[in-house]
Amino acid sequence: MASSPPQFPSRIHELSPEEQSVYRQLDPARLPKHIAIIMDGNGRWAGKRALKRFLGHQKGAESVQYVVETASRINLPWLTLYAFSLENNLRRPKSEVSFLMKLLKSYLIGNVKRMNDNNVRMAYIGRTHDLPQEVQDTMQWAMESTAKNTGTTLTLALNYGARTEIVDAVRSILTNLATDAHTRGCSIDDLLGAGALEALDESTIARALYTRDMPDPDLVIRTSGEQRISNFLLWQIAYSEIFITDRLWPDFRGLHLLEAINAYQHRERRFGGLSETFTDENLNTLEPAEEVAEEIKDHLTPQSESKPDHALSRR
Ligand code: FPP
Repeated sequence: MASSPPQFPSRIHELSPEEQSVYRQLDPARLPKHIAIIMDGNGRWAGKRALKRFLGHQKGAESVQYVVETASRINLPWLTLYAFSLENNLRRPKSEVSFLMKLLKSYLIGNVKRMNDNNVRMAYIGRTHDLPQEVQDTMQWAMESTAKNTGTTLTLALNYGARTEIVDAVRSILTNLATDAHTRGCSIDDLLGAGALEALDESTIARALYTRDMPDPDLVIRTSGEQRISNFLLWQIAYSEIFITDRLWPDFRGLHLLEAINAYQHRERRFGGLSETFTDENLNTLEPAEEVAEEIKDHLTPQSESKPDHALSRR
């Protein structure tokens, strides 16, 4: 008899009443598999209260745990949080960087038990080998202590930059090629000529990224209203839906995660294709391009008469 996939007991009853009322509006069959969050606004949250920035980060760490637990209750398979970028590491005062490192360490030590209670597995992406050794040791311990969990995988992006991730991927592809040439006793040129160049495709790059074991994010959330991606998962978010909220990260809770999922479920994902409601019949009603061109030709300014548009030419 074929074995059926393991059934996990539903944990929806563990959501707060407010969360349950948003959850009831969701289609459980269309929940995202992977949500990635740019946690922003810790400093502004503190500034608004005339508090030190450090306290904003501390409150931000509390938000992390609330959001992780809601994610695990709805059985979200992948949650990735941008906790510390390469740029944060290089451009923030040493005192803030060192506070963030201490906070990360104490967050991990203080929350591993809760991760296990919630069946959450910890993982990391980024140039984590450049972090202080004692932080790396704690990270390793937290990862090993949660490795058997089968619920949400919480990935912390630490000392992470997406362009650097792509550089690291290219380096590893080239290193593999050189090793392959060495093993076969030929040159890299020989391998390229024998089909290695054509064999290199999008999946080669995807498999060389830090995220090789994860699906691409379906939804990216950014808090604090900034409308940018800040060097986060550039390759992986090619077709992700983006949800930006003005709420500052220390005020973000599981309820807001569910609201973002609700907004996501109202989006139509097309992956460069057409809407599902667009049929061949619709295509037949499109006017041929030549006819459209003929109709609008009188409205087009001839090239020679058009004034130079400096604003446009600056593109
Ligand atoms: C942005 O706030 C956030 C960060 C620099 C990183 C996020 C860090 C945390 C949420 C705290 C620790 C995390 C873990 C996992 C323990 P900002 O300082 O850029 O805010 P601002 O733009 O308002 O100044």
